[in-house]
Amino acid sequence: MSRKEMDWANIGFAYHKTDKRYVSNFKDGAWDAGTITEDATIVMSEDAGVLHYAQEVFEGLKAYETEDGHIVTFRPDLNAERMVDSAKRLEMPPFPKDRFLDAVEQVVKANADWVPPYGSGATLYIRPVMFATGNVIGVKPADEYQFRIFVTPVGPYFKGGAKPIVVKISDFDRAAPHGTGNIKAGLNYAMSLHAIVTAHEEGFAENVYLDAQSRTYIEETGGANIIFVDADGNLVVPKSFTDSILPSITRRSIVEVAQKYLGLKVDQRPVKLSEVHEFKEMGLCGTAAVISPVGMINDHGKEIAFASGMEQMGPVIQKLYDTLTGIQMGHIEAPAGWVHQIL
Ligand code: PLP
Ligand code: COI
Repeated sequence: MSRKEMDWANIGFAYHKTDKRYVSNFKDGAWDAGTITEDATIVMSEDAGVLHYAQEVFEGLKAYETEDGHIVTFRPDLNAERMVDSAKRLEMPPFPKDRFLDAVEQVVKANADWVPPYGSGATLYIRPVMFATGNVIGVKPADEYQFRIFVTPVGPYFKGGAKPIVVKISDFDRAAPHGTGNIKAGLNYAMSLHAIVTAHEEGFAENVYLDAQSRTYIEETGGANIIFVDADGNLVVPKSFTDSILPSITRRSIVEVAQKYLGLKVDQRPVKLSEVHEFKEMGLCGTAAVISPVGMINDHGKEIAFASGMEQMGPVIQKLYDTLTGIQMGHIEAPAGWVHQIL
């Protein structure tokens, strides 16, 4: 192995073109054998379904170097399953779970030199993506697709790393009730672009979306699920009654870590915006966000400040963060099947 030399502490969350990617194409009703290629570009028809009717789904997971020098991924089976669910919802042919796992392994091995060193604060982000390449002009699913996985080394998603951020309550909606908010489709993120540009211009790091039906309940942010800590030190996790929150793998893992490693009570239920001021801590969780602390919510000028403040993570979120990342980086024993060794 001859590791790339990068300024790992300062690479940010950005695309760096790495050496190899995995590509498989779907045609005549079947996925081909798939291959590793150096070609980072895609040539397709002007009439490809993805360009017109947004038939595209993706995933995000990470490869880590552990303390003892192995390269591992975290619960990739759940990404494979979620991508199957996403594909089915958009009438795309699912990429088989075993082939997804094999493809992740091939791409990470082929780009092992790009895995940031243990302790650097950076990780290798893995981006599986699937889109319609076949021609469509009337509104219908295409009959040809491409599945691709590329990787890029990344640093923290939010500038400042573990420093608490300020988020705003958005007036835009991310996902319709019973729409596509519960799958990882690019169209959900297109919906959020104007809202995130607006939030950034106003000085906020992210948007908190409320349920689109009643505008009463907390759903999630543009790129992460939300967790709260209540006055008794228990975890409170917003649940959507219109099924419009993405089932975050990080959040599902945090719930287990909270219960099994930290002995916390976990309450997964609809959470009203009007009760948020009673909570002590708030965090955003996801593959990219890991667990990012929130110090304050701005609700149309009204500031909801958490007791944990703007300088550091609150104590419960810190424990969750240390335990989760300890499991991912291999210095805390993981539940069976969570950590998948590649090298
Ligand atoms: N919510 C949204 C909208 C996301 O884009 C992501 C990122 O994947 C998450 C939540 C977190 O999901 P996960 O923990 O599976 O990465
Ligand atoms: C991830 O966390 O993997 C995502 O896809 C979120 C995105 C905002 C980068």
